[in-house]
Amino acid sequence: MNSTLPVIEHLNFDWEFCPKFDKTMISGDKNEYIFERVNIPHTSVEIPYNNFDENIYQIDCCYRKKFYISKDMINRYAWLHFDGVMAYAKIFVNGEFVGEHKGGYTPFKLDITKALKYGQENLLVIYVDSHEREEIPPFGFVVDYLTYGGIYREVRIAYVNEIAIANCHIKTKNVLEDKKLLDLELYIENYKTKTDTLEIAFTILYKNSICHEFTKTVELKGEYSEKYNIVKSVENVDLWDINNPNLYHLNIRVSHEEKILDEKTIRFGFREIAYENDGLYLNGEKIKLRGLNRHQSFPYVGYAMPKSAQYKDAEILKYSLGVNTVRLSHYPQSNHFMDRCDEVGLLVFDEIPGWQNIGDSEEWRNLAKENVREMIMKDWNHPSVFIWGVRINESKDCEELYLETNAIAHALDETRPTGGVRYLEGSQLLEDVYTFNDFSHTGMNKGLKDRKKVTKKEVPYLVTEHNGHMFPTKKYDSEPHRIDQAKRHLNVLEAMYKNNDISGAIGWCMFDYNTHEDFGSGDKICYHGVMDMFRIEKYAAYVYSSMQDQEPVMYVANSMDIGDFPAGIVGDTYIFTNCDYVNVYKNDLFIGKFYPAKELYPSVPHPPVIVDNYIGNQIHDNEPFNDRDANFIKNSFIKISKLGEAGITLVDKAKMGLILVKYKLSFSDVYQLYGKYMSNWGDSATTYKFEGYINEKCVLTVNKSQLGDVHMKVSPDTNILVEAETYDVTRIVVNIEDNNSKPLFYSNESVFLSVEGPIEIIGPKHIPLIGGSSAFWVKSTGLAGHAKVIIASERYGEEKILIDVLKV
Ligand code: GAL
Repeated sequence: MNSTLPVIEHLNFDWEFCPKFDKTMISGDKNEYIFERVNIPHTSVEIPYNNFDENIYQIDCCYRKKFYISKDMINRYAWLHFDGVMAYAKIFVNGEFVGEHKGGYTPFKLDITKALKYGQENLLVIYVDSHEREEIPPFGFVVDYLTYGGIYREVRIAYVNEIAIANCHIKTKNVLEDKKLLDLELYIENYKTKTDTLEIAFTILYKNSICHEFTKTVELKGEYSEKYNIVKSVENVDLWDINNPNLYHLNIRVSHEEKILDEKTIRFGFREIAYENDGLYLNGEKIKLRGLNRHQSFPYVGYAMPKSAQYKDAEILKYSLGVNTVRLSHYPQSNHFMDRCDEVGLLVFDEIPGWQNIGDSEEWRNLAKENVREMIMKDWNHPSVFIWGVRINESKDCEELYLETNAIAHALDETRPTGGVRYLEGSQLLEDVYTFNDFSHTGMNKGLKDRKKVTKKEVPYLVTEHNGHMFPTKKYDSEPHRIDQAKRHLNVLEAMYKNNDISGAIGWCMFDYNTHEDFGSGDKICYHGVMDMFRIEKYAAYVYSSMQDQEPVMYVANSMDIGDFPAGIVGDTYIFTNCDYVNVYKNDLFIGKFYPAKELYPSVPHPPVIVDNYIGNQIHDNEPFNDRDANFIKNSFIKISKLGEAGITLVDKAKMGLILVKYKLSFSDVYQLYGKYMSNWGDSATTYKFEGYINEKCVLTVNKSQLGDVHMKVSPDTNILVEAETYDVTRIVVNIEDNNSKPLFYSNESVFLSVEGPIEIIGPKHIPLIGGSSAFWVKSTGLAGHAKVIIASERYGEEKILIDVLKV
């Protein structure tokens, strides 16, 4: 069989960029403007970490690229693909206008065949407008996040034949039976609108081995876009689920009279989603959704981050935060992120762009409907996607629009339910699942509203946001505040697990994000994350990680520094852990074995272990009291440590008086005892040790002691950068910590960053360690080689990281 298979050329390196636009740039003749050399993904304006004018990223700008096309491509059709340009793009090839796209979150492609010059250099010019144009969702009112600008996702050209595979929706059905169904919708583009016979060969591969093959002959009807349904039953395949994310590939080969015209390989998984009133069923098994919302932003460069950073976020969610679900708030996100969710087994709530406001114009609404189509046709083969969000986040009821968005979604994909995120109780349900942002938890009441009160009817129900603005928390807030944030997330999880008719809860949100002046803490940051903007954990992060069973977690969310608590009342120590129990020692003395607090949190998979005292039997063992009196004194001390002296009743005081008389002690002796056993006032060397046990084996140990060696720790996510379709990045985390690896949240050091070799630092080169830690990313520049990153602190010296940049 002979073939002229399509040729794909990635166009991500060596663009020219100018933060202005002028019509003379289209032809590329005049060169009075200064263009800078950039690689894609690119942000049109780098912004500071915080405290900036939110209008600075809203500009008109120009991207230009010269590229050569060989004469071999002369009989091909050339499609230019953009994965994401924010917010409006107008494209010119060799001075000729070839198309435009409105909306920054969905991919688009343009036929540029006629504008090309073969055997010559071609000029691609793109006018990008990153203003918040009111005819494009999510714009027109206010939005609680920034949208940045630029060609922030990858670009490529595909040179295809006159018959090409445009898409294929791979649906898997009857997956619980021996014979499973592969229900394919194959979209073919027939540029010359011919009528002809095509032979199509399908090959299913699992881990690079062929497991099924079949063929089909179809008749082209002579239309530009044609669709074919092919149903095939297959056996002996492994299902995709969150614990075993088995992925298959479908290779599709289209040929005509022994000549291969096109070939595509698409990854997919065999699995089935069903949403019932009592929850989500994946392959017939009910799963409680424990998740977090994710914006796709990063410090300084906004949305412009390549594959490895997108991968890393999915890995952080799955492995560090231990969640099983992510909501793409509030727009479709990078294909790389989606790929990694498929690979790690993370369920995805996909959603169209929008925030509270429904635009009035027909154009705005048409774009919103188009977004539904673009989102679904981009993401439908990702087994991780379990629901389509087809309502503008938190918008009011709008029957005319939402009847249509639901109809579009159902027509394109009958295998997944729709949801529509709202904050209204009893609102009109045109979707399959009532998806609701429940911000009712105040820290004092129960974690979530009753489902019945919200939906009024028996319907499938999912909480899509909670907490967030109800309790903004900075990584360097005081201990009680950070502990409170963690407890609030825990309370919501408890309510979610407790109620059978709540299918899950997706917290607001994974990490802090830059925002507009109407929101956030006045510095253009919403501190709503369980992590900071650099993906570094706050205490609340450990509530999530402790819920999973993949690896042992034990996080002691308490510094034991009495001076950081009002009135010096440290209160209970919350240990977020999935251990069976924790042995606690103070100054090497065994205090007790503490079990998860099942009485307080009976429903979550792993309640925290709560240590309410560090006295143990010490008063009994060291002081002259009998057991009953020692117990009374111990319990009184615990009450005081939680509630202050106000916690002691008159009766308690009278009892204490009698004990004092009995043992010939004064009140000041009692104060001394309190100091000795509770507050360690004046004690020079209080040490604590926590040992976490699983199956009677000590799996984790945490020590807490007074500050010893304070040092800087530097941890790269990887030491190898791989340049393929575009540049690569790695994050480097810098931490100030003590001798027990305890992060020092109130350290205010700064570090100077520099590099040697073929890499660059993203963002500023002198950074504060906010709340004792921070991170930065370095990126490759188009060249391979050895590189070095130097992190220098005046106080803690210098650390060096070696990085290898490979090119494939
Ligand atoms: C919600 C909104 C989110 C975010 C959050 C803050 O109302 O959907 O985008 O603003 O509040 O808690």
